[in-house]
Amino acid sequence: MDLELGGKVVLVTGGSDGLGAAVARRLVREGAKVALCARGVERLAATADSLRAEGGDVLTVQADVSKAWQVEHFVDAAHARFGRVDALVNNAGTAAARPFMSVTDMEWEEDLNLKLFAAVRAARHALPLMREVGGGSIVNVLAIAAKTPGAHSTPSSVSRAAGMALTKALSKELGPHGVRVNAVLVGIIESGQWVRRAQEVGKPVESFQTEMARHAGIPLGRVGKAEEFADLVAFLLSPRGGYITGTAINVDGGLSAAV
Ligand SMILES: NC(=O)c1ccc[n+]([C@@H]2O[C@H](COP(=O)([O-])OP(=O)(O)OC[C@H]3O[C@@H](n4cnc5c(N)ncnc54)[C@H](OP(=O)(O)O)[C@@H]3O)[C@@H](O)[C@H]2O)c1
Repeated sequence: MDLELGGKVVLVTGGSDGLGAAVARRLVREGAKVALCARGVERLAATADSLRAEGGDVLTVQADVSKAWQVEHFVDAAHARFGRVDALVNNAGTAAARPFMSVTDMEWEEDLNLKLFAAVRAARHALPLMREVGGGSIVNVLAIAAKTPGAHSTPSSVSRAAGMALTKALSKELGPHGVRVNAVLVGIIESGQWVRRAQEVGKPVESFQTEMARHAGIPLGRVGKAEEFADLVAFLLSPRGGYITGTAINVDGGLSAAV
């Protein structure tokens, strides 16, 4: 299926590793131009090099999206380089889930800044640019805890639930302007964060992931592949997903108890 993404300009926050990098690769293969941001310049450069080796037109911007001005700088830099903005993937994030009593005010603020306000600010800054080209698409990358928060899941599940409300509210407000807004709710999918976690506990990544899948009780019996996630995101960003807005889709091998 041709996703008709050729020549489109897509911004991906947290695009240097894991799921964001997989989305960028999928988009490059579809002929889209991509702008990636992350905090670490070395990993950004390495990811961009490998995308360019596949023929990708790629911009990298060092930015910490939990800082308002850095989000805005990322959007502006992408617009300056490519001359248009068609789509945005709010993907940057980290795992943060602990017993409620151990989470400080500062940690709550950090989590909300990274997972909620970054998406608010990026959308607010990119929207006028999307409207300039007649519409656009936003995908907010969240977690299945947005629908089914569990014990010891703050502050992340709260930020993710807010992200889902933001998705729905924006989809209603922006639909008349041709901008679609969707969320993808991740269960457990292969990415840099799990590689680092396996290294921390001294286990090979594959057996670590197999154990995670068994422990979590994923019905499909395995963790997801980053490419499986990227395929859905690319579809939602593309004109082929043109009638889909205001929805939150689980990509979790059946793990979530909620539809
Ligand atoms: N993989 C899963 O199983 C899973 C499950 C639930 C939710 N998610 C969500 O999916 C998204 C992607 O996760 P992932 O598993 O791909 O993680 P990952 O492998 O750790 O990659 C995270 C990416 O985000 C960037 N990043 C982190 N903090 C940032 C910040 N403040 N500003 C800009 N960039 C930042 C990282 O680069 P730098 O560190 O260099 O900034 C990296 O490029 C996250 O929002 C995560 O919470 C993933």
